[in-house]
Amino acid sequence: MYICHMQLLDGVLVSAHIKEQIKTEVKEWQAGGGKKPHLAAILVGNNPASEAYVGSKVKHCEELGFDSTLLRFDAAITEQDLIKEVERLNNDDNIDGILVQLPLPGHISGDSVINAIAQGKDVDGFHPVSVGKMLLGQPTFLPATPYGIMLMLEYYNINTAGMNCVVIGRSNIVGTPMTILMSRNANPGNATVTMCHSKTKNLKEFTLNADIIIAAIGRPKYVTADMVKPGAIIIDVGINRIDDASKKSGSRLVGDVDFDNVAPLCSYITPVPKGVGLMTICGLMKNTLLAAKLRTGK
Ligand code: GUN
Repeated sequence: MYICHMQLLDGVLVSAHIKEQIKTEVKEWQAGGGKKPHLAAILVGNNPASEAYVGSKVKHCEELGFDSTLLRFDAAITEQDLIKEVERLNNDDNIDGILVQLPLPGHISGDSVINAIAQGKDVDGFHPVSVGKMLLGQPTFLPATPYGIMLMLEYYNINTAGMNCVVIGRSNIVGTPMTILMSRNANPGNATVTMCHSKTKNLKEFTLNADIIIAAIGRPKYVTADMVKPGAIIIDVGINRIDDASKKSGSRLVGDVDFDNVAPLCSYITPVPKGVGLMTICGLMKNTLLAAKLRTGK
């Protein structure tokens, strides 16, 4: 039986540290005559999870000394009208960063809307030019969740060079950019990366060989203890709501990892909640400050 000392990768601790750094940087920037960063968030419809995410982003703007504008639209808005709104924000000199909360209603092409965002204001890092620059290792806005995970690994001084890294999930938002960042010649990075997804055969063969597993599949408790090598590092990106009669709300949040059974095996693991989710906000806020500086700096 392998016994190891598991350490929690604490999103509360790390995000608090990074938010203090951001607050200080904003104050210094403004003291030097810089403009207060201003984030514009677009929310279409009333998906409860999206409402919660956008609400948290706006609240953090206030906490860190940024301006924010929340634009809400009915789920019936046309793609053309939504793109017009994005273009209006592109041309508004007071706005530094634009984010369109995903997913969008089925009749709207997310690609078309994201492509309409001015790249210099693309603080989600989803625009094709941002993604292309990231792939080539050029300075750009990194997608918020992968960026937050890199900040977390950096904070704990985890040296990922030479590690076998398995990313489960291939979304544009997390899985795909995560594989790029973990394989680049940088620290964190320099890992040997395998991307697994819903069509992967014998997933367990890959995960059992992984020194680090990044789970971004969106299925509750998908990664179980029998899939994890003792001593592995586990990054859980999942935010899944499941029924729980013992809770007043009748439900609770769990990750993509069966935390209770996997945690005792690990060297490091992120909890859900209070793990990666808080780091995503840090990535977004750092991008928004950078956008303001790049756009309005002398
Ligand atoms: N939906 C899920 N994650 C994200 C994110 O990081 N940004 C936006 N805009 N939408 C999301």
